Amino acid sequence: MKIFFILMLLFCFKYSISDEIKPIVIEENCKSCHGKDYSGNTFIKSIKDLDKEIFIKKMKDYKKNNNNSVMSRIVKVLSVNDIKEIAEIIYD
Ligand code: HEC
Repeated sequence: MKIFFILMLLFCFKYSISDEIKPIVIEENCKSCHGKDYSGNTFIKSIKDLDKEIFIKKMKDYKKNNNNSVMSRIVKVLSVNDIKEIAEIIYD
């Protein structure tokens, strides 16, 4: 039993010391608006058929545009590398 708690502690520590959020976790959040399979809804058009390169370009543009749109706010904190990794998760 004791070893279980020690392992739990180690586990928590491992995840609390890294302040980086994994792209796979970020990508889960995208689905809340864009839909489980990225096909969108009445308000948001589908992104599942976008070309991977177009996707990366759009995401970079959101990062550049410093307006207050939903996507700009979300993408601002992502690095270009995060964007590429997310693109791989969605399109590969
Ligand atoms: C709070 C809701 C919300 C979340 C979360 C969200 N999006 Fe969006 N996204 C939108 C809306 C609304 C639009 C369309 C309006 C616009 O262009 O700003 C959009 C547009 C886009 C577009 C452009 C689509 C096109 O064809 O022009 C891409 C690409 C995109 N989102 C990717 C993502 C990714 C990747 C994530 C996760 C990191 C994400 N979105 C998270 C709401 C959201």
